Amino acid sequence: MPATAVALVVAAGRGERLGSGGPKAFVALAGRPMLDWSIDALSQVAAIEQIVVALPEGFEAPQGAIGVAGGAARSQSVLNALAAADPGADLVVVHDAARPLVTAALIEACIAALDQDGRWDAAIAAAPVKDTVKRSADGVGVLETPPRSELWAVQTPQVFRREALESALGRSEAELAAASDDAMLVEADGGRVRLVHCESENFKVTTAADLALAERLLAGSAELRVSGV
Ligand code: CTP
Ligand code: MG
Repeated sequence: MPATAVALVVAAGRGERLGSGGPKAFVALAGRPMLDWSIDALSQVAAIEQIVVALPEGFEAPQGAIGVAGGAARSQSVLNALAAADPGADLVVVHDAARPLVTAALIEACIAALDQDGRWDAAIAAAPVKDTVKRSADGVGVLETPPRSELWAVQTPQVFRREALESALGRSEAELAAASDDAMLVEADGGRVRLVHCESENFKVTTAADLALAERLLAGSAELRVSGV
């Protein structure tokens, strides 16, 4: 029997670095709220039976999704969404609303990577790092240069076996508050996480320049859809 999945979309952030004056997930992007692009992609995936969105105060979930209140930190928003999701699903897909360029194909690839290989607890989208990366503790002195061939820029979707995510989200409040993704909590919990190679085009909209680039890419794809290409 194919695995069943629920999707949790975290959309409750304030978007401070974008500085648009409102929550980032609801900023207009190629004619619709940024969040709607991710909901569209997730809705096209057959294995996903339910979509739960963690929302900022005063905003509602798009049609077809269940809304819950977001938390103070990203991990808390994931926890709140998980609490409202069907507890019977095998897999949980976590996705940032700030990644509107996600595709159904990438979500399906992450689900398949986990579903078809019992060795892993999580499968996460990751692109090879293009820049050489240095480590520095103080932002001035360079401590080391890790080999670039071993470095991956991690994105969402991140897909988890439900029990593994539940256990990882039970770690300490300090760990949850510091976590920039969910896979690192699974790693700390002793879970096995695998990469699913993807394109860097699935970037996170963080700054105004990112928003402008996403607008160009998505407006172009909308024109293709309208003209039936
Ligand atoms: N997020 C959330 N709840 C929070 C913080 C973040 O649901 N308390 C979500 C954001 O809405 C976003 C994703 O987590 O979809 C990744 O976070 P980030 O890109 O940092 O978005 P913001 O926190 O909104 O932006 P900023 O850090 O610039 O304020
Ligand atoms: Mg943030």
